[in-house]
Amino acid sequence: TTVEWEAESYDMGGHDTYMHKEIHEQVDAVDRVLRGRIDDRFSTVRLGGLNLDAREARGVRRVKILGCGSAYHTGLIGAQLIEELARIPADAEPASEFRYRNPVVDPETLYIAVSQSGETYDTLAAVQELKRKGARVLGVVNVVGSAIARETDGGVYVHAGPEVCVVSTKCFTNTAVAFALLALHLGRIRDLSVADGKRIIAGLRKLPEQIAEVLRGEEEIKKLAAEYANAKSMMFVGRVRGYPVAREASLKLKEVSYVHAEAYPASELKHGPLALIEPEVPTVAVLPDDDLLEKNRATLEEIKARSGRILAVAHREQEKADHTIVVPRNEVELDPILMGIPLQLLAYHTALALGRDIDKPRNLAKSVTVE
Ligand code: G6P
Repeated sequence: TTVEWEAESYDMGGHDTYMHKEIHEQVDAVDRVLRGRIDDRFSTVRLGGLNLDAREARGVRRVKILGCGSAYHTGLIGAQLIEELARIPADAEPASEFRYRNPVVDPETLYIAVSQSGETYDTLAAVQELKRKGARVLGVVNVVGSAIARETDGGVYVHAGPEVCVVSTKCFTNTAVAFALLALHLGRIRDLSVADGKRIIAGLRKLPEQIAEVLRGEEEIKKLAAEYANAKSMMFVGRVRGYPVAREASLKLKEVSYVHAEAYPASELKHGPLALIEPEVPTVAVLPDDDLLEKNRATLEEIKARSGRILAVAHREQEKADHTIVVPRNEVELDPILMGIPLQLLAYHTALALGRDIDKPRNLAKSVTVE
């Protein structure tokens, strides 16, 4: 069985599909997840439902994030944010893998279940197994009062509003922002400086306007989508901050356009996937302007040398790429959040060009409530 939104009850607001509507709702949605939470006095954020006091937060030795699909990918971004801002070792794992492998449950690890619906069976089952073993589990959830929200010890609501399209867009972005808030909060209880706290807060406040700026580039992305829609397969690559963005963009394209896509850490290309590179298999490269930019450019050269076409998502024009989608610069820690957005539009316009059923892709459900 699956949970379906009563789609008819939500106004399309002049958009042809919910996916398009929800992509454009991100400006307001991100504003909502921030609203009322920023605490300028202490350069941190207040998270009312977290239920983790400062002493407990200091005692956390490790963070493990669990989710499925796009939620798992937000967990990959969340783990990076928590490591960077709070310096707590963190990683994400698909909830199903976790629950089936008789995991070692450690009392000093903070577990976080992430889910749009709050009803995904594998994620819920992982929460229940953790609770049974006495672990502390928080939720990063969109649907208020959902099963995962109820069964966790506390958490952060994502406030994306109802998401109808099967593929996640605004909830993905808002969940990543919610993780940035949590990471900032944990960081400021630990060793993140006031100056860095201020810097991240300023970056968060810039996000809605910068998202609007990315969305204003839609026409250009539509043209690019038409150019790449006939690809045999698409390769998505990134390093560290760019990698979860590549993973999610690859999933999004597959789900909604049925174009085959693979995502790899850029350095892994030479360990196998380079064999696939040819003009019919273009690469989307996510290149934030961080300390890895030069390494990423070297990857572009490797691809060019095999006559691969390249679409770069970057903060400035990349001369090695055939096309660059230029995304406004934020703070390096927050850049992945923005870099995902043009790739949602790319998936959307590819699906549109191929005449797909965008809001209800074949074989997929919005929420998988069975094993
Ligand atoms: C389904 C959807 C995905 C979603 C995943 C997790 O597979 O098709 O888009 O990411 O479930 O859903 P959740 O509600 O737990 O975030």
